[in-house]
Amino acid sequence: MSTFQAPKGTYDLIPPDSATYLAVREAIAAPLRNSGYGYIETPGFENVELFARGVGESTDIVTKEMYAFETKGGDKLALRPEGTASVLRAALEANLHKTGNLPVKLWYSGSYYRYERPQKGRYRHFSQVGAEAIGAEDPALDAELIILADQAYRSLGLRNFRILLNSLGDKECRPVYRAALQDFLRGLDIDEDTRRRAEINPLRVLDDKRESVQKQLTGAPLLRDYLCDACKTYHEEVRELITAAGVAFEDDPKLVRGLDYYTRTTFEFVHDGLGSQSAVGGGGRYDGLSEMIGGPALPSVGWALGVDRTVLALEAEGVELDIPASTSVYAVPLGEEARRVLFAKITELRKVGIAADFAYGGKGLKGAMKSANRSGARYALVAGERDLAEGVVQLKDMRSGEQTAIGVNEIVAELESRLG
Ligand code: HAM
Repeated sequence: MSTFQAPKGTYDLIPPDSATYLAVREAIAAPLRNSGYGYIETPGFENVELFARGVGESTDIVTKEMYAFETKGGDKLALRPEGTASVLRAALEANLHKTGNLPVKLWYSGSYYRYERPQKGRYRHFSQVGAEAIGAEDPALDAELIILADQAYRSLGLRNFRILLNSLGDKECRPVYRAALQDFLRGLDIDEDTRRRAEINPLRVLDDKRESVQKQLTGAPLLRDYLCDACKTYHEEVRELITAAGVAFEDDPKLVRGLDYYTRTTFEFVHDGLGSQSAVGGGGRYDGLSEMIGGPALPSVGWALGVDRTVLALEAEGVELDIPASTSVYAVPLGEEARRVLFAKITELRKVGIAADFAYGGKGLKGAMKSANRSGARYALVAGERDLAEGVVQLKDMRSGEQTAIGVNEIVAELESRLG
């Protein structure tokens, strides 16, 4: 192992690519900020119990993928594998649900950790931007979240994604379906592991990617046919609201999610250019999660979009985000006097909000101009002894190559007017 190698399943975000990641996070957050969601940040780790109870004891996430550890003080913690349980825990701890202002709408952005087999699009450390609307049962809230995710992807220029939609029923109808599905699965020729899964968490078997299993699942009972009237009406209304908003979706009666807390509305955003790790985001309603972690009944809904996979989706579609150069003005001092004068000037420029940088390290003209070019700056400020003796600096338009002498005292005003 090389000393400089990031741990397996992880990678670093470095310029210039890192700018795309920031822009993606921004683009996902913008519609949320615009719709009444407030920013929340929770710790990178929680008591392991929270995820065991929240995400589900029998899920892959909890049984195989969690970075769980015991601290020197004996606390049993886990790096967060997802955000929903943490955000709900934090909302309950701060009593946000008691302010009489439900739903509590929160958004977050951060790192998550799953000990998965790494491959393209699947990492052990990855980033999500997510949203949770806590404490209201209203189909318009489910619709809002789906519409906002669609808007986020579209604002990035993505087109080849699809929205898969399903309802997982509630505590009335799901148990009846679960029993029917179990009956069906018991009659199949499946391996020991799958048989065990069928007993603990039969809905997960529907999600088995193996063709041999999928073949046998034709004719399996579908939850759609078991939904109680309340769930049916609720789901129909979600569908109508999304349709009315002009957001296209596909009904996917076999969509089950990898986390146990879902009820009713569930959805996934898939991108067709990503191969096997095609889910760029997912979410749904989790009306029972609060009670599962020891809180009051708080019907809620949310989603999380994967930043890493969204970036891969942009690459797959050949979308280049229009990321403006971070530096507008680059100062090139030639000599000691110029160093002092130009350094003061870039400090002034920065104060008025103009992005400016400086040729550090005593570079010669050629090297410094190369750096100016690389910075993407629109203008270079070049000054030597002779310029300063005349009280001027050379302002070079890096696009046209045109160069004009301007008075040292006019630099800030001139650049402010040129850069608009
Ligand atoms: P999730 O489907 O497990 O849902 O993850 C959401 C998204 O995070 C995925 O669609 C994917 O883009 C990204 N993701 C997950 N695992 C990895 C990985 N190993 N490498 C790269 N990207 C990954 C949740 O986490 C739920 N908390 C979503 C939610 C919020 N449901 C309700 N509210």
